[in-house]
Amino acid sequence: MRTVEWDYSRELVKLIDQRKLPSIFEMAEFTDYHGVATAIREMYVRGAPAIGAAAAFGMALAAKQSSATNRHGLQQDLETAAEILRATRPTAVNLFWALERCLRVARRENITNVDDLRQAMLTEAQNLADEDVEINLRMGRNGAELIKDGDTILHHCNTGSLATVDWGTALGVIRMANEQGKNIHVLLDETRPRLQGASLSAWECEQYNIPYSIIVDNAAGHFMRTGQVNICFVGSDRTAANGDVANKIGTYKIGVVARENGIPFFPVVPTSTVDLSLATGDEIPIEERDSSEVTEVTLFGRPIAPKGARVRNPAFDVTPYRYVTGIVTEHSVVYPPFGLNLRRAVEAEQKKLKG
Ligand code: MRU
Repeated sequence: MRTVEWDYSRELVKLIDQRKLPSIFEMAEFTDYHGVATAIREMYVRGAPAIGAAAAFGMALAAKQSSATNRHGLQQDLETAAEILRATRPTAVNLFWALERCLRVARRENITNVDDLRQAMLTEAQNLADEDVEINLRMGRNGAELIKDGDTILHHCNTGSLATVDWGTALGVIRMANEQGKNIHVLLDETRPRLQGASLSAWECEQYNIPYSIIVDNAAGHFMRTGQVNICFVGSDRTAANGDVANKIGTYKIGVVARENGIPFFPVVPTSTVDLSLATGDEIPIEERDSSEVTEVTLFGRPIAPKGARVRNPAFDVTPYRYVTGIVTEHSVVYPPFGLNLRRAVEAEQKKLKG
């Protein structure tokens, strides 16, 4: 089952409601693109590639919903829908990349009929979703070569099937190594405040029989310093042209401590997550989420913070490229100098897509 998909018989978008995992597995269904926008904002669906695919299917819904009778009117409605979907989350570049892909189709002068444009929008969303799975499998194979039999791997957030259309990025690499028969163990950072590691990555490890232990985020340094981690794999929501990697808050600390302890640190990044328009990670917008994510948690039945406590809650951080050993992409494992080699990998993949 895919994290997000189009239901062809009922013509609607279906996605796994990740807010309810691991206790309840439920699909949410949407017949209105505004609903898809809410699902992205409120994290029914999350993870950079999954957000991109959900937005693309949202555009297919917008095309279906539009009452426009001519091609120009439909294009206008699609531009409006893209604007609304774009405003949901700021950091994951796959959202903007996917919407741009859909808009390029919407602006094609050679599609003159409204029904043809509606169909073209769905075809583009479906292609994007199918490509995501294929790209993840390629990244999985590239990254699994870095994992040795007996390795203990540190992982942050959720980067598995649930964060993509299927298979996953960093967790996809780990899953591939596990399926290749390598004897591995994964330390899953629980990933405060939304606990994607404890709730989603652990659930996925259960599904795929990957041996794991959940650790609190604060324990990662301890395990690295005491020689209990061989390699780190993380995802990315946006990677700048120089190789600076934005990912779930807490990733930066892992990169720094990994370097201090001589442990290789590999972000797993589809080329669609590389934003060559940004020279460095300092230009990546960092989402700040609601304080309730931090304070509205109970421990032993009691709230963990005083009522009215002030909170800062950045959802992502940037790990500067100097802490990055290499970047696993679907093209290859890219090593420094990232400025040159990342661009080569991205351009090679773009060429393949066009050809
Ligand atoms: O806030 P989220 O859960 O959308 O953040 C997800 C991550 O940070 C992932 O690590 C990232 O999207 C890359 S892996 C697909």
